[in-house]
Amino acid sequence: MNVMGGSGGQRPPPGSKLVGLMVGREDTFPAPFIETVGRKGARDGVRAEMATLGGAFLDAPERYSVIVDRISHEVPYFRAHLKGAALKGTVVINDPFWWEADEKYFECVLAQRVGVSVPKTVVLPNKSYIPDINEGSLRNLRYPLDWDAILAYVGLPAIMKPNTGGGWKDVYRVDSKEELLWAYDQTGSATFGQRPKTMILQEFITWDDYVRCVCIGRKDILPLRYDPTAPFHERYVISKPVSGDLREKALRDATRLVEALGYDMDTVEFAVRGGTLYAIDFLNPAPDFDSFSIKEEAFAWVLDKMSGLVIDYALGRAKPPWRGEHRWWRYVK
Ligand SMILES: Nc1ncnc2c1ncn2[C@@H]1O[C@H](COP(=O)(O)OP(=O)(O)O)[C@@H](O)[C@H]1O
Ligand SMILES: [Mg+2]
Repeated sequence: MNVMGGSGGQRPPPGSKLVGLMVGREDTFPAPFIETVGRKGARDGVRAEMATLGGAFLDAPERYSVIVDRISHEVPYFRAHLKGAALKGTVVINDPFWWEADEKYFECVLAQRVGVSVPKTVVLPNKSYIPDINEGSLRNLRYPLDWDAILAYVGLPAIMKPNTGGGWKDVYRVDSKEELLWAYDQTGSATFGQRPKTMILQEFITWDDYVRCVCIGRKDILPLRYDPTAPFHERYVISKPVSGDLREKALRDATRLVEALGYDMDTVEFAVRGGTLYAIDFLNPAPDFDSFSIKEEAFAWVLDKMSGLVIDYALGRAKPPWRGEHRWWRYVK
């Protein structure tokens, strides 16, 4: 048996610079992305395909020089495979180690420290725990929570949402202490599955404008007007471009965030209140790239920037932001 062929089956042909794409339930991005990489990369031997991973072998080289990962948050084996691949030399977009560690409360602290405004935020102890956890496990937890102090800080209305997660799942707007306690109680219920979620409570920014930036390669930032109250596919408001001072501030703050986070693929969302941009959601390392959602012009921009990025990585013209950054990189050859 040829163990060296273990990673997904085949090794890359010698000299080839192969880009693997990993996606979830999205149909509009994959084929045009693979086609664009193939067309633009042909001269230099770079091409892309849908990656297929079927168990990572310690001693097998990786098939891909670059992997664009848009699904490892849902498929734990992919994460495990990609961590090993990163150490073996594959450029993984985004850093699987950092993506796994990242959380919304941490991001708020980081934003504040790099000079980006964020809503007042509290991370809350879980409402409940898996069955094995009992009082003895929770000795370091202050109980009951001082809800009045928490509310005095955050104010009302407020938003309660998971510290990790996405897709607007389990996001509650609360207008009173009663609503807050009701929502908090929901987070301990069976609908949250086996592991009850850690939630954050956040000042609700009553916005007069809203901007979402598609961020690629930490340098290319596309600010788009966004209406979070519209039905899903109508949220990107292409008819009203983001311009002037608002555009400048969005570019500046989005760049600061993606540079600090090291995400090569992300969206950064701002609620605008009285000229101040508040970063609301910037933990989107597998951002919505669907053409019907971001619309034609932005979709073409995404294809151009994403293909340029992976070709640069495949040819060694750029270094991923995370390579060499973890302590263990010092000890590997
Ligand atoms: N602090 C806030 N102030 C105002 N609106 C918010 C706030 N937090 C979340 N929202 C609204 O709720 C939506 C979902 O929250 P978000 O943090 O993006 O969660 P998810 O990660 O599930 O997408 C946001 O797009 C925004 O419209
Ligand atoms: Mg969001």
